[in-house]
Amino acid sequence: MGGGLIGLASAWRLAQAGLRVAVYERGGFGGEASWAGAGMLAPGGEIEEPSDFASLALASRALYRAFVRELEAATRTEIDYQECGALDLAYSDDEWRALQHRAERQRALGIASKAVDPKQVAIFWPRVRTENLAGALFYPDDAIVNPRELCRSLVLACTKAAVELFSVSAVEQIHVSPNEATLYVKTITRKNRKVIIGRRFRAAVLAAGAWSSSIPVSGVPAPPAVEPVKGHLVGYQQPDQTCNTILRHGHTYLLQRANGLLIAGASVEHAGWDRSLDPAIAARLASEASFVLPHLAETTPSEIWIGFRPSSDHLQLGPWHSSALHLAYGHFRNGILLAPKTAADLASSLSRISRP
Ligand code: GLY
Repeated sequence: MGGGLIGLASAWRLAQAGLRVAVYERGGFGGEASWAGAGMLAPGGEIEEPSDFASLALASRALYRAFVRELEAATRTEIDYQECGALDLAYSDDEWRALQHRAERQRALGIASKAVDPKQVAIFWPRVRTENLAGALFYPDDAIVNPRELCRSLVLACTKAAVELFSVSAVEQIHVSPNEATLYVKTITRKNRKVIIGRRFRAAVLAAGAWSSSIPVSGVPAPPAVEPVKGHLVGYQQPDQTCNTILRHGHTYLLQRANGLLIAGASVEHAGWDRSLDPAIAARLASEASFVLPHLAETTPSEIWIGFRPSSDHLQLGPWHSSALHLAYGHFRNGILLAPKTAADLASSLSRISRP
């Protein structure tokens, strides 16, 4: 199991289901895609066609408020979760037709939206560019969460629920047999020596995001490949709340956290594990952001960062070859959104197999 949002949420639910759980994490807990994600819980911008993925995403969206509230109560922490809706903007007739066509298909999935007249946009979203605005659609059910706060609270919740959290140098191998999985992890002793430790479990969950297929697995066929898809994001620390709804135009989205950080994202790059920040990509995001919110043209982003989305041929969720290995990766652009449902589904299937 990895210590990102999917692994931590699952560990918490599994512990609540009465299982003894350990999480092994190579970097910091919640330190990769969960830290980098903007935190959109936005089927309106991400889902267009019926699919299993779409059903899971919508089910997870429906679980979110209760998930956050339960986590806040369990840890006495506050999590920035805003049911703020999203506004999709069209600045040409072609863009407006495309938005309306998408909204019709989404309505069949139960994703609600309603047209907003450009004059109303000017009244209710006074900072949004209305010059040449052909139309806009409001998605009332889209929301945002601060994934960094979620992970912080989940680490606390896991600790309170007696989940063992291990920071290791690497997970070297998972050996799987029908009724158990052995995890071999590399760790550094107090005397600074590297040692490999093996530990047996009734089941193992592979939830290492974009790294999931780099962990060697033996005893069963290799789990499906996952590719890192890099995304750049830019952030503006704003003195005031200037973006109280998710805004979308084309491939760009904007949202603002309660702490004032206004985020614009995101690039989609098939660039392997390249962690470099590209100033040209950041400048393009900033230009797209200031197109939608012209007041941003007067300021430069205070932060630029990247993350690696886990892309697989589809969402990998459930037991692998009826073995003790369970997969939970390949959430691609929607890992934050899918966390509560992934965790609930894993807890329900694993608590079944773990009972004698
Ligand atoms: N969830 C949006 C993104 O991956 O950029």
